[in-house]
Amino acid sequence: MIGIFDSGLGGLTVLKELADKLPEYDYVYLGDSARAPYGNKSQAVIYDYTRQAVDFLFKQGCGLIIIACNTASAKALSRIQQEWLPPRYPEGRVLGVVIPSAEAAAAVASNQKPPARIGVIGTRATVESGVYEAELNKILTARPALKIKKWAIHVRACPLLVPLVEEGWTGKPETRMILKKYLRPLKAKKVNALILGCTHYPFLEADIKRIMGKNVKMISTPRAVAGKLIDYLTRHPEIESRLSKNGRRVFYTTDEIARFRTIALNFLGDSGGEFIKTELGK
Ligand code: DGL
Repeated sequence: MIGIFDSGLGGLTVLKELADKLPEYDYVYLGDSARAPYGNKSQAVIYDYTRQAVDFLFKQGCGLIIIACNTASAKALSRIQQEWLPPRYPEGRVLGVVIPSAEAAAAVASNQKPPARIGVIGTRATVESGVYEAELNKILTARPALKIKKWAIHVRACPLLVPLVEEGWTGKPETRMILKKYLRPLKAKKVNALILGCTHYPFLEADIKRIMGKNVKMISTPRAVAGKLIDYLTRHPEIESRLSKNGRRVFYTTDEIARFRTIALNFLGDSGGEFIKTELGK
């Protein structure tokens, strides 16, 4: 099974893309909606919650877990991979969404007129972590084949966007107004690629595109992650062969099932799947 974890519903954007591209695998989704949002929480809390979620998914039998949440990937993933995982689940793998998005942005930037100007939007915690700048600088420095000699990275926290998406306010004039305000400094810097560094932002992609203009390439987490996972599974047949393939979908939420199910089924457009309420950290 492939586990997908998010602080809430936003990671369904990643599940949808993966299930479209790799439908044969079994997926277990865990949304910690009862404790969302994570985006304004401290590193210690985000690490603790993420660790509990990953532990839960391994206990369900997942061989590979994707932390679909940018905030959790930014604030908790490296410590989980380095300290927590090896003594507990040495065979287990936990992947995040930051590196795939940064790699996708670097690839896009290498096909554009220099200098590369990459914008990143995310939650406050993601932006404060500095993880996107660190990964992008690493990739752009280490890969001469990308032929990017000069680059600039512009990062912006957009803390109001997650609540607006959660409220279903996508496409409303008020949301567009807030988006314009958030995106103005990135437009002024003439970014030519923009990482949508949060699970919820694909819901706003059409408006973001309209505001940024057609020459700015959008890097959305779900597409970047799906591409990277296909590549990862090809390079790691020993892991791929351990993943069950019955096309099964199970959804766990830490909050009430009814709202979760309605939104999930509306978004995924499919009636399959089992919905279960659970608790973390007990
Ligand atoms: N899933 C989070 C992310 O991608 C957004 C929601 C939250 O703040 O928990 O950063």
